[in-house]
Amino acid sequence: MTAYDAAYRRSIEHPDEFWREAAQDIDWVTPPQRILDDDNPPFYRWFPDAELNTCFNALDRHVAAGRGDQPAIHYDSPVTDTRRTLTYAALLDEVSHFAGVLDSLGVTKGDRVVIYMPMIPEAVVAMLACARIGAVHSVVFGGFAPAELAARIEDAKPVAVVSASAGIEPSRVVEYKPLLDAALDRSSHKPESVIVLQREQATAEVGVRDTDWEEMTWDEVMADAEPADPVAVKATDPLYILYTSGTTGRPKGIVRDNGGHAVALRWSMPNIYGINEGDTWFTASDVGWVVGHSYIVYAPLLTGASSVLYEGKPVGTPDAGAFFRVIQDYGVKAMFTAPTAYRAIKRDDPDGELLRDYDLSSLETLFLAGERLDPDTWQWATDRLGVPVVDNWWQTETGWPIASSLRGLEPMPIKPGSPSVPVPGYAVQILDETGSPLPAGEEGAIAIRLPLPPGTLPTLWGDDDRYVGEYLSTYAGYYLTGDGGLVDEDGYLYVMGRTDDVLNVAGHRLSTGSIEAALAGHEAVAECAVIGVADELKGQLPRGFVVLKSGIDGSGEEGERIRAELVQRVRDEVGAVAALRQVDVVTALPKTRSGKILRKTMREIADGKTPNVPSTIEDATVLETLTPVLRPPTP
Ligand code: COA
Ligand code: AMP
Repeated sequence: MTAYDAAYRRSIEHPDEFWREAAQDIDWVTPPQRILDDDNPPFYRWFPDAELNTCFNALDRHVAAGRGDQPAIHYDSPVTDTRRTLTYAALLDEVSHFAGVLDSLGVTKGDRVVIYMPMIPEAVVAMLACARIGAVHSVVFGGFAPAELAARIEDAKPVAVVSASAGIEPSRVVEYKPLLDAALDRSSHKPESVIVLQREQATAEVGVRDTDWEEMTWDEVMADAEPADPVAVKATDPLYILYTSGTTGRPKGIVRDNGGHAVALRWSMPNIYGINEGDTWFTASDVGWVVGHSYIVYAPLLTGASSVLYEGKPVGTPDAGAFFRVIQDYGVKAMFTAPTAYRAIKRDDPDGELLRDYDLSSLETLFLAGERLDPDTWQWATDRLGVPVVDNWWQTETGWPIASSLRGLEPMPIKPGSPSVPVPGYAVQILDETGSPLPAGEEGAIAIRLPLPPGTLPTLWGDDDRYVGEYLSTYAGYYLTGDGGLVDEDGYLYVMGRTDDVLNVAGHRLSTGSIEAALAGHEAVAECAVIGVADELKGQLPRGFVVLKSGIDGSGEEGERIRAELVQRVRDEVGAVAALRQVDVVTALPKTRSGKILRKTMREIADGKTPNVPSTIEDATVLETLTPVLRPPTP
């Protein structure tokens, strides 16, 4: 039996034994006696009697072990021409002082703190400071507009909000404070304190408005801060909430616990990613996404590795050689990003000329995740880099990979188009519509038999019923991933895409519902639909279709004005990151007799596939009229 087979089998047949052993790499205040609490299915809890502090495990213990002078974070920001390295000792110092600030503002164990910040070290400091005092952070991606931010504030009910004056996009400076002000005005929940880090690219107006909450600058509060010690929390206490998009406009608050998360991420670094203490690791994502939470911040720090925090883009900051410059400058052993980033590099520098300017001898592996890795991009990266390019599949809900080639445990041959095999802990099954397992080679819904391993979501924030309804009720005893796919004869998984209407634009997960809500809010719109269509660079791009209220002319100048306003509304409400550029005015939307819009059928037509038209369609002529709009004639 191979190392992978043995570990996988043990993790499924004897999960207590497997995870008890993995838990030894974490420093506990109260070590776990019980491993899995399965008293209340379908709710499972890991390490129910244990206590720890995640920040202590990420920082203090490494300093105590003599790693104080080792870089924890290399902040590299081509957009501001700044580089700053924080050692473990320096990061611990900043984090404990900011934890003291939160403490002095009355933030205590279990309170929520919303963090709305760009890719700067203070975002990491704020996250770890929350963890230090047992507060629950909820980071909101800086590219989201006020409506999305407000929805998260409304649900998380933070005591404090931490933000910055600006984020820097290559084309513009994005002022965050006006966006935050607008979100707080919209939200019925108000925090007690707002802390804003001033960046020199834009100064925010802080404390000048008449508000119910106190506004302060980061420098002001840090000036006389006292350091705070780590607080012991239960392994099952929440470490963070990260909102993700479902099909409806209401985001889902994915809860991450402290204990299972620390154990799983610590296990993943050597076993999946081949990264150990002292190694340098570079994840190009954003702290606002799960990849950023897990693999920019927590996993490398829990491991005692050095993590690059990169504030820039794969291309244009200044060119398609940027990632390779970072790999060379910091001696990066493994890199992790989304396939889109490599598609952008490939587009700008097809022959990989820029990458030849750099010494990439430190690089052993490139990991890609967040969306499907197409074989062309895999081949291009493999040929240019000369190292294994490893696809791994997971989601915000799981927090760490469900499927991957396990580079540390047992590197296995790579098959392009497949994220390889199920990771230990995940009992992956392909199910048919009735919930019966399908044989190798047959496509169905990808589900995971319960219990999910440590580190995965125990529930949705404040909504156990929605957790069960959205994930656990389709197939009893299984977690529904929302992705479709198959397993081949060798046990390799192939992920074909979402079976629901969730969009994936440049590795960013977006909801059709929130984009539709933005369109529907326009006074001229009677009804609308949004679908994700295949795009060479971003994987998918949203397209909007609107039916206007009767009497409103959708053609000519009037129509052009409305379409432009709709595109702008989506930027203003959801954010530029939605990248909605095309809205078509149509006379009707195809629906079933019960009124459900046939988005999947529309998507299939737009992608040039043979559409699956349900027999319950209300009026087939609507689809016929729409087809030329969906699928422009080939020239
Ligand atoms: N704050 C504010 N605005 C943001 C933002 C942020 N953090 N991130 C993106 N935006 C804006 C961009 O400025 C752009 O605005 P524009 O329409 O005015 O130009 C828009 O949102 C779309 O941005 P982006 O998705 O970055 O597309 P792009 O066309 O500018 O760049 C890529 C294309 C491929 C370079 C880019 O999508 C990319 O770097 N992808 C990597 C994906 C990734 O890291 N995913 C994380 C999951 S692992
Ligand atoms: P997110 O929660 O933003 O990480 O998005 C998760 C979704 O992205 C998954 O449900 C998949 O649809 C898609 N995804 C992530 N990684 C991969 C991958 N390696 N291959 C195919 N799809 C992926």
